[in-house]
Amino acid sequence: MPAGGAVRFRLVANEGEFLRWNDDRWTSAWTDREKLTSSVSPYLSKVIAPQRGQLVLDVGCGGGGISLSMAEEVGPSGLVAGVDISAPLLELARKRSNTLGLSNLQFHHSDMQSDDIEGRPFDLAVSQFGVMFFDEPVVAFGNIRRHLRRGGRFVFAAWQALEMNPWHIGTALRSVVPPPPLTRPGKSAPGPFTLGEVGHATSILLDAGFTDVFHTAIEISVIGPASTIVDRSLLDFMGVPQESLKRASDLIERHLDRLRVGADEYKFPLAFNVFEATNTQENAK
Ligand SMILES: C[S@@+](CC[C@H](N)C(=O)[O-])C[C@H]1O[C@@H](n2cnc3c(N)ncnc32)[C@H](O)[C@@H]1O
Repeated sequence: MPAGGAVRFRLVANEGEFLRWNDDRWTSAWTDREKLTSSVSPYLSKVIAPQRGQLVLDVGCGGGGISLSMAEEVGPSGLVAGVDISAPLLELARKRSNTLGLSNLQFHHSDMQSDDIEGRPFDLAVSQFGVMFFDEPVVAFGNIRRHLRRGGRFVFAAWQALEMNPWHIGTALRSVVPPPPLTRPGKSAPGPFTLGEVGHATSILLDAGFTDVFHTAIEISVIGPASTIVDRSLLDFMGVPQESLKRASDLIERHLDRLRVGADEYKFPLAFNVFEATNTQENAK
């Protein structure tokens, strides 16, 4: 710590998240993690309801699950731009797109909080759990809005509060992981549950200039093995020290026991909101 006890922060947007999402230990387990989130996709897609020929921006596209399905829905006369700060996840998305031979899909390694994405104005901005990690959410949502045409819609899925999502192991591991880094003044702490409170998420959307904000609360459950939500790479990544690994495993086992329905089979209750908002402003090209 510098003299005088002042805490020094680096002035880089989303720095922590950039490091986190570009960590190979995390991304190698991604296809397991997708077993949880891909069950949300049909609910999200139903609200998005894309039309043939539309231009779609997929924010925080990760391994591209939603981008790929949108590209099929909008067809060859439409276009999908998937945006993510994670190079390894974009590589996975590109591989999947090439396998399917889709030509109406582009991926951009960019920060949606600040960057301009080629192809605007878009008809739709969409996201499946990719908009909770901005350190300036109003700025980021404002940037997303400026990529939309007048009348364009923003539809995204975000987790409800942590208490509604007992699949998450964060609380169970609190005693063995280091505390999160300090948040720089004026910045928001990112995390999967930051939009869990509907009033808070709605204010961010309104402050960013969106109108006609609606949400639908949805609860489902997914059956899967423990690896769907946790593995050794995640523990390393969360910073669990070597000497606490045994304790962490015990805590996870106790946590998972409440959800167990078979030998290595668990019922994970998922609670999320699907938000819809509209851009009614004319944006400069
Ligand atoms: C929970 S994952 C969701 C990925 C994907 N949408 C899915 O459903 O599988 C969150 C994604 O948001 C991306 N992300 C986080 N901050 C971002 C930012 N500032 N700009 C663009 N993408 C970001 C991460 O890299 C990650 O791929």
